[in-house]
Amino acid sequence: MRRILSYFELVVVTLAEWLLVDLPGPIGRRLRRVFWRIRLGSMGRGVQIDTGIHISNPSWVHLGDHCWLDHGAVILAGPPSAAGGRRIIRKANPEFKGAEGEVLIGDRVHIANHCVLQGHGGLQIGNDMTTASGSRLYSLSHHHSNPDDPDDHTQYKFSTMAPAREQSLISAAVVVGDGAAIGLNTVVLPGVTVGTGTWVGAGSVVTRSLPSNVLAAGHPAQVRRSPLNPNWVTEGTA
Ligand SMILES: CC(C)(COP(=O)(O)OP(=O)(O)OC[C@H]1O[C@@H](n2cnc3c(N)ncnc32)[C@H](O)[C@@H]1OP(=O)(O)O)[C@@H](O)C(=O)NCCC(=O)NCCS
Repeated sequence: MRRILSYFELVVVTLAEWLLVDLPGPIGRRLRRVFWRIRLGSMGRGVQIDTGIHISNPSWVHLGDHCWLDHGAVILAGPPSAAGGRRIIRKANPEFKGAEGEVLIGDRVHIANHCVLQGHGGLQIGNDMTTASGSRLYSLSHHHSNPDDPDDHTQYKFSTMAPAREQSLISAAVVVGDGAAIGLNTVVLPGVTVGTGTWVGAGSVVTRSLPSNVLAAGHPAQVRRSPLNPNWVTEGTA
């Protein structure tokens, strides 16, 4: 009986998502808000969810107040699977406050068009920041080797579809601080922290952590100006 009920629930949820995902206008936005409030781990007040949004394992996603998920944004959550003997190398990010697989998004955050936030290794985004269109923040990635074992000289495969034992993955949380800016089409790789108030220029590839309040750009992203601005904007000063 329980199995039939959970199958029924799955069908209802799937149909509801299918009907709502591209429903235009304010009615679509309002109904999606109700739908995702039930499905997400938690969701704050005044959240705007546009069309074409895909969220996997939504119970692992926590959204703050007044966030905006813009058209076509994708959020992938939930911890990685070691099924079949997939090797997962975990690297701690001490700035990360959540659990592996959790996506924690603060208040007044804009996830712009067609961003991909992949939180399988954990992803934490502070308050008052934007990831501009096309950006990709990844906390889990296939790797060519097994950095946990210097005696293992195997070259592992990049494909998720390869036999599980031929895959090696790095799981390391990504953290983006309050007031940071991730420019258009930027890629942020596993284990990276982007400091509070730091701006990352368009088209950058962030392979190493960046300190707070700097301008960084390029591939690999490097600090171009530090401090970015000597005074922090506060309410009423802009
Ligand atoms: C970084 C940015 C904000 C410019 O800031 P700025 O203070 O005017 O910085 P500058 O143009 O003086 O650039 C400083 C240095 O970084 C370099 N730089 C700036 N942006 C860069 C980028 N995206 N990629 C590579 N290098 C970049 C400049 O060439 C310059 O290098 P130099 O000192 O060797 O000449 C802008 O280039 C940018 O990328 N904006 C993001 C735009 C965006 O994503 N908008 C989304 C919609 S809101």
